[in-house]
Amino acid sequence: MSSRARTDSAHISPSAHYTGYVWYRHRLSEPDFVTGFGRFAHGVLSPLTWGMRELAGLDLEHILLQRHLLLDERLRAAIEHDGVCQVVEIACGLSPRGRRFCRRYPRLRYLEADLPAMAARKRRLLSRAGWQDERHQVREMDILAESGATSLAALFAGLNHGEPVAVITEGLVNYFPLAVVEDFWSRLAGCLAGFTQGIYLTELYPDLRSHPRYRQLRWGVDLVGRLTRGGYWLHYRDEAEIVAGFRDCGFVRVAVHDPDRAGVQLPRLKIPSLLRVIEARVC
Ligand SMILES: C[S@@+](CC[C@H](N)C(=O)[O-])C[C@H]1O[C@@H](n2cnc3c(N)ncnc32)[C@H](O)[C@@H]1O
Repeated sequence: MSSRARTDSAHISPSAHYTGYVWYRHRLSEPDFVTGFGRFAHGVLSPLTWGMRELAGLDLEHILLQRHLLLDERLRAAIEHDGVCQVVEIACGLSPRGRRFCRRYPRLRYLEADLPAMAARKRRLLSRAGWQDERHQVREMDILAESGATSLAALFAGLNHGEPVAVITEGLVNYFPLAVVEDFWSRLAGCLAGFTQGIYLTELYPDLRSHPRYRQLRWGVDLVGRLTRGGYWLHYRDEAEIVAGFRDCGFVRVAVHDPDRAGVQLPRLKIPSLLRVIEARVC
């Protein structure tokens, strides 16, 4: 794939079945979130993930858990300390976070969003289990749509702009070249500026060239790109570049959380962490 993104990104969606199964395996979700394809993909890829873990210390499931649990922790803090009462999770896939947070915070409004086919699947799942209601809903949305029914602006239209909001993306931004994702972040910062408080949470895999497993990491990300029939990019080289990049997109305050230094219990790798969680605010 060239450095330009395709005009649609539906090829990424199957990866949500894999991560959905990982969340279930680690007791973060209920069986309703498991699909046959997710279980199958996990089984087929297990020799490969075993090899990466044993030979290079790259434990894929621990890396995924680090990002998921650290995002959970930052969302918890946004709700409990910043008064966030509405959450938008973009590219929700088969993540159980909406279900878990709605159960934990009975007054929270939670909007999940994804491409149309995945959104329909998630809506069916929640509705079959009896979890979809006024507070917890699913919408169709495409981060590449600059206008129209699946755009960011349409997604935010139904929210209460007089209350703080948190937006999450997980497992999404490294599937796109930086220019494409920065364009999305700029539109997102513009939308968040219309709220009393807007917090954006995402994980990011930076281009950590001095990481002791950089070569294996590059091999791993090329493989993820090939398995999802697209590409996989590493964005920014260090914390200073991350902060500058988000500021250029319109975010005013940017915190970069390193799982190795987060004050919360997370699965540890034998090597320095490969990901960062970004918490970016528009005011
Ligand atoms: C790796 S999965 C992550 C799913 C979930 N966040 C998780 O961590 O388990 C990537 C998700 O991004 C969604 N996606 C891909 N392209 C998208 C786009 N242009 N706009 C919104 N979501 C998109 C896919 O449908 C899929 O659900």
